Amino acid sequence: MKQKFQPIKRTDSSTKMIGKILHSDEPLLEVNNLSIQVSQPDANFFAVKKVGFRLFRGEIFAIVGESGSGKTLTALSVLDLLPAQAEMTGGKICYAGRELSRKGTFTYAGIRGKKVAMIFQNPLSALNPVFRIGRQMRDVLQTHAAISSAEAEGEILTLLRRVGFHDAGEVYRAYSHQLSGGMAQRVMIAMALSCRPELIIADEPTTALDVTTQATILRLIVSLREKYGFSLLLISHDLSVVSELSDRIAVMKDGAFVEENSTRQLLEQPRNEYTRLLLMSIPEFSPSVLV
Ligand SMILES: Nc1ncnc2c1ncn2[C@@H]1O[C@H](COP(=O)(O)OP(=O)(O)O)[C@@H](O)[C@H]1O
Ligand SMILES: [Mg+2]
Repeated sequence: MKQKFQPIKRTDSSTKMIGKILHSDEPLLEVNNLSIQVSQPDANFFAVKKVGFRLFRGEIFAIVGESGSGKTLTALSVLDLLPAQAEMTGGKICYAGRELSRKGTFTYAGIRGKKVAMIFQNPLSALNPVFRIGRQMRDVLQTHAAISSAEAEGEILTLLRRVGFHDAGEVYRAYSHQLSGGMAQRVMIAMALSCRPELIIADEPTTALDVTTQATILRLIVSLREKYGFSLLLISHDLSVVSELSDRIAVMKDGAFVEENSTRQLLEQPRNEYTRLLLMSIPEFSPSVLV
């Protein structure tokens, strides 16, 4: 049987610090009425239906829902990375008050990989097997910053240490096939951080990892957020993964948000039947709490 992920506990000090230093009232990302149509050989359908949310600076906003509910397409649309079969047919996406979804007014390239970085579910497939890790990280860094290769190497070694590698030099020289899934995800996190993003979109960042590594990677993301101050859009099918980390949670089902609330409210007083079902799948929430 698959071992259940045990949520990590949020400490008072981290919450306070986030409240004091990072949180602000200005939405960093604002999505309104987002609709995405998907064309499949047999039929077209709306995979995302009028989804809207606001993610504030310094906040962890989570989208949780079963597989196929439209979470990834929602995330990809923020960076204009939708696959060919999917099209944004309606809605508006604003980043730091500027509309991204109206072509020509503001280029996505200006935020993609620079102000907004993305971490995916399968880190090993995101890495190029042909080049050493250091070379790939240097390419990313030097695309965004005018620095020499020697400076880039120094910066990358520092980042690799920050994400927990004591042997940063060895990882720098390694190929992706020499890394475990957890190590590869650390590399992806370091790569995301290398551009000092304001927002990180983490789409199922721990789903491909074993339970112990999941907890370690989630803790790492939280501690790095305290250090670097990025906001986080966290996406997962697993409510227990997001419930201890996020400030607010939106529950997604069949392409729509069925409920959105502060994490505490959502856990203590779920309004939607589907949210209750998700909660009941977490062992620590007994059914008696929910009736
Ligand atoms: N490239 C694609 N081609 C065809 N259908 C897709 C594609 N990407 C996603 N879909 C469909 O869109 C729906 C939402 O997908 P997705 O956003 O990946 O869901 P989630 O991330 O919540 O699992 C699903 O029904 C999925 O099959
Ligand atoms: Mg997905």
